[in-house]
Amino acid sequence: MVHVMVAAKSCGLLQIPEITSVIALARKPVQVEDVKSPKLKSVIISDYEHYPEDVKAEFAGADACICTVAVTPMRSRGVDLAEVKRICQTCTLAGFKAMYEAGPSKPFRFLYLSAEGTPRDLTKKPLFMGEYRLMRSFVLHGETENMVLAYGEEHEGIKVCVARPGTITSSLTFWRTAQAKLFGFANMFTRAIPNVSREELAAALLDQVVHGFEKGPLTNADLIRLGCSALKAL
Ligand SMILES: NC(=O)c1ccc[n+]([C@@H]2O[C@H](COP(=O)([O-])OP(=O)(O)OC[C@H]3O[C@@H](n4cnc5c(N)ncnc54)[C@H](OP(=O)(O)O)[C@@H]3O)[C@@H](O)[C@H]2O)c1
Repeated sequence: MVHVMVAAKSCGLLQIPEITSVIALARKPVQVEDVKSPKLKSVIISDYEHYPEDVKAEFAGADACICTVAVTPMRSRGVDLAEVKRICQTCTLAGFKAMYEAGPSKPFRFLYLSAEGTPRDLTKKPLFMGEYRLMRSFVLHGETENMVLAYGEEHEGIKVCVARPGTITSSLTFWRTAQAKLFGFANMFTRAIPNVSREELAAALLDQVVHGFEKGPLTNADLIRLGCSALKAL
């Protein structure tokens, strides 16, 4: 199991018996709250575009990858579009290639984290998105979705799926807690603004890489349904 983004303690990642090993690939050491587990290995990479041989070796025999590398819209302000494109597209594909070249298990499940409302085709312009937002969203996730899906089609033994959550709620910071409370209140009446909790999302993603992809793309509603069901089973 490679490259996992999770609320690991809350969704019981390290307690899932089918998961025997987690490689957490990041630019800084990854610690999972207070948990110490021999299953978890933090692997550092300085640039997601380049994979040294020792890092590649960690991917050998992996069953799945949950890929979350992206400059999110919130963080992309002030970042040059070429750099956003490099991180979102070039780095994602470089990581995928490095994993494939390292000799993963077959089938190797690659789950790419995108976002609800992502356009895959710039000719279909949704009314609620301006030209600029539409183009950003296409560069951020739409083109990357097309690239990872194409790579999966072109290479044997790979299954690719795209997950498209709405806003991911959590209690990581004061503002996120306040946001989560607001969504929690609004969700009692409507889910008009798609959102999913970090725990539900993590549980849904893990369920899908362990048991196989149910469908693609996984919408926010699919992720809530799968996540709730996986959390109940823990
Ligand atoms: N947060 C939300 O509400 C939300 C909603 C819908 C979809 N999503 C999608 O879910 C995925 C994960 O979101 P997130 O909120 O967890 O994002 P995040 O923490 O801002 O970043 C996700 C990953 O991208 C890497 N990254 C970010 N900026 C980078 C940079 N300038 N250079 C190199 N690497 C960089 C980070 O690497 P390091 O770990 O090494 O720092 C991290 O692993 C993204 O694809 C996002 O679009 C998020």
